Amino acid sequence: MFALCIIAFLCLLPVNYSAPAACENLVRPLDHLDFHHLKGRWALVAGAMRDNSYLEKFKTRDSASVSFGNTSENSTVSFQRVIGFSGSCQYTQSNITLKASGFSFNDINMAVTILNMSCPDCLLMSFKNESNDVLRLYLFSRRRAVDQKEMEEFRAQAECLNMLEPSAVDPTKELCPEKISDTADTDTAAQTEVKTEGQNA
Ligand SMILES: *[C@@H]1O[C@H](CO)[C@@H](O)[C@H](O)[C@H]1NC(C)=O
Ligand SMILES: *[C@@H]1O[C@H](CO)[C@@H](O)[C@H](O)[C@H]1NC(C)=O
Ligand SMILES: *[C@@H]1O[C@H](CO)[C@@H](O)[C@H](O)[C@H]1NC(C)=O
Ligand SMILES: *[C@@H]1O[C@H](CO)[C@@H](O)[C@H](O)[C@H]1NC(C)=O
Ligand SMILES: *[C@@H]1O[C@H](CO)[C@@H](O)[C@H](O)[C@H]1NC(C)=O
Repeated sequence: MFALCIIAFLCLLPVNYSAPAACENLVRPLDHLDFHHLKGRWALVAGAMRDNSYLEKFKTRDSASVSFGNTSENSTVSFQRVIGFSGSCQYTQSNITLKASGFSFNDINMAVTILNMSCPDCLLMSFKNESNDVLRLYLFSRRRAVDQKEMEEFRAQAECLNMLEPSAVDPTKELCPEKISDTADTDTAAQTEVKTEGQNA
């Protein structure tokens, strides 16, 4: 009887302890972020949110991309977000400061951690609030869509971080054109709107 209990206990061990260990490996931040890897444009492939209200908002997007570029100042990188929905394009231009495992925005109090992933042309960004809870997880890639195995990995990562079921972006919808300048009057309203949205994170 005693032996049976020990066997049962040992058999249960892997089941009880595998989940946290697997999660620890799945949601590891990049240990050193390389600007040359970041540079250029990334298309949004999928997102996972903590809150349903934000998930609903996320689903209204047709497409999105981010671009990292140089600025005249050494430690500052320009960061452009482009969101397409209902036939229009919203542009938000920010300056960011690169950190070891992510970056922070120079104008708003928000930090992004880049998580490691097996997919080499992917960029997994996690947005945390002040209490260090991950509220949003965005999967970007140089491709418009990732394969099933990579999507499974993202799904598992989202689950580890207690996110809702991920939502994929339709890869057949065209990306908005990239735009270098952020001075056009028509973009001012959109810029403010997206910034407000970011601050709610
Ligand atoms: C961008 O920055 C990289 C690294 O700092 C540098 O090698 C490259 O020449 C810069 N490009 C432009 C267009 O300034
Ligand atoms: C940028 O880097 C160069 C060379 O590393 C340095 O001489 C220059 O002072 C830096 N400029 C700023 C604005 O930090
Ligand atoms: C980003 O920084 C550059 C200087 O490095 C500045 O000219 C530009 O206006 C800044 N852009 C934003 C959106 O803050
Ligand atoms: C990142 O993931 C790859 C592939 O899954 C792995 O080989 C590498 O060791 C990981 N790096 C870190 C810092 O966890
Ligand atoms: C951060 O998000 C978590 C999960 O939604 C929430 O419980 C916590 O109160 C938030 N913290 C702040 C400072 O907003």
